[in-house]
Amino acid sequence: MTEYLRPLTCLTDSVGAAVPLRLVSAETVRSAAETLPVFARSSGFKGAAGSVCLCPAADGSVQEVLVGIGDGTDRWATAALSTSLPEGVYALSDGVAPDLAAAVALGWELGAYTFDRYKSKPTAPRARLLWPQGVDRAEVLRQAEAVMLVRDLVNTPAEDMGPAALEQAVRSVAARHGASLSVTVGDDLLTANYPVIHAVGRAAAPDRAPRLIDLHWGPEDAPKLTLVGKGVCFDTGGLDLKGAGPMRLMKKDMGGAAHALALAHLVMAAGLPVRLRMLIAAVENSVSGSSMRPGDVFRSRKGLTVEVSNTDAEGRLILCDALAEADSDAPALLLDFATLTGAARVALGPDLPALFTNDDSVAADWMAEGLAQQDPVWRMPLWAGYRSMLDSPVADLDNSPEGGMAGSITAALFLQEFVSPSTPWAHLDVYAWNPKGRAGRPAGGEALGLRSVWAMIRQRFA
Ligand code: BES
Ligand code: ZN
Ligand code: ZN
Repeated sequence: MTEYLRPLTCLTDSVGAAVPLRLVSAETVRSAAETLPVFARSSGFKGAAGSVCLCPAADGSVQEVLVGIGDGTDRWATAALSTSLPEGVYALSDGVAPDLAAAVALGWELGAYTFDRYKSKPTAPRARLLWPQGVDRAEVLRQAEAVMLVRDLVNTPAEDMGPAALEQAVRSVAARHGASLSVTVGDDLLTANYPVIHAVGRAAAPDRAPRLIDLHWGPEDAPKLTLVGKGVCFDTGGLDLKGAGPMRLMKKDMGGAAHALALAHLVMAAGLPVRLRMLIAAVENSVSGSSMRPGDVFRSRKGLTVEVSNTDAEGRLILCDALAEADSDAPALLLDFATLTGAARVALGPDLPALFTNDDSVAADWMAEGLAQQDPVWRMPLWAGYRSMLDSPVADLDNSPEGGMAGSITAALFLQEFVSPSTPWAHLDVYAWNPKGRAGRPAGGEALGLRSVWAMIRQRFA
């Protein structure tokens, strides 16, 4: 079985000679410059976040590396080091708080990430970091694995990440943790009453048939945590075909599923005392003679009928069947992740996933962890006043209100119709992509709101 969780490449136990690496705040440079090598002072090192000073020994070799951390608040300040420092092994100086040391270690590994699966030339070797003292290694390891899993799944072209390949990725993570899996594929979706997932995915080639992937893990009597992911392996828009520009990035339209799977990995790897369920609706929104058409009406799993006024609003369609099932056994918390709307990106940009929830404490805790972990999400309203925009003249719901006003809100309101008011539920409309690279966060597929939701869940269920 292909292994989808990457091994870490930059964090090492190797002893031997390691170059000392010291984190230096701007305040230290201002008030205690005498504690720094003369070279740092004479070369104008100010301790600005991300700045680096290679201090030489008498023989010209690097004696010590100073890394500026500014005011100490930017967890990514050191994350470019794995690619910017000369090859070798570095050792963080003692006395760094475990939390900061863990952030340095995680950033080091995440900053070294490259998606080189299709590159003929090997990636240049990265600088390595000795595991810092006092950090929770298992936690850093699983967070790095989880983030890189999202990146790899999203970056993989749709040709190699269709519904069947996405299922294989889930299988490999499930096998690692002894989780059980059941998968309903193709026309079996009709028998099992997932009519809308079937309708969206039915136009794809037979080897890319739609499916619902259902994972279970953990003791049955533990509190139920259920995750749902939008796994649209490619979104052409269907018959309401996207233009070339908007279609270009649509290999990433399974980013929600990637987030759900990565969070499931975190939960299972940490042994969180929950009964975990993860549902991924994996489809390709394709064009063929069997495509769903604008104006078609489908009766969903829940019984509500849905008019497809735009075949490009397919995410909310597959999620309505998955959410109805997810809601049916009354989970203690239900979370869904989806690259659902262009409107969320217009409202908040690529870095701030839009959070919708019927539970104020989930919103408060997730937003607070987002700021603390530098993995922000931003709450948007489930504005009941806009519910009437989803009215259809022929069915219970319209999947794509005309005009597109408040597009991410109406999409979230659509999903809400399939969740009981009594179920604590949150929906993350996530971009899953870095348009440009920054320290620790290369351009391409990205996990957003993942470390913060993990921190929130751990608080709740540990
Ligand atoms: N996958 C897209 C949403 C998307 C587009 C996410 C670009 C990130 C970047 C989704 O299936 C879609 O096409 N949504 C439409 C909905 C509309 C037809 C109501 C959109 O947002 O334009
Ligand atoms: Zn679409
Ligand atoms: Zn989509």
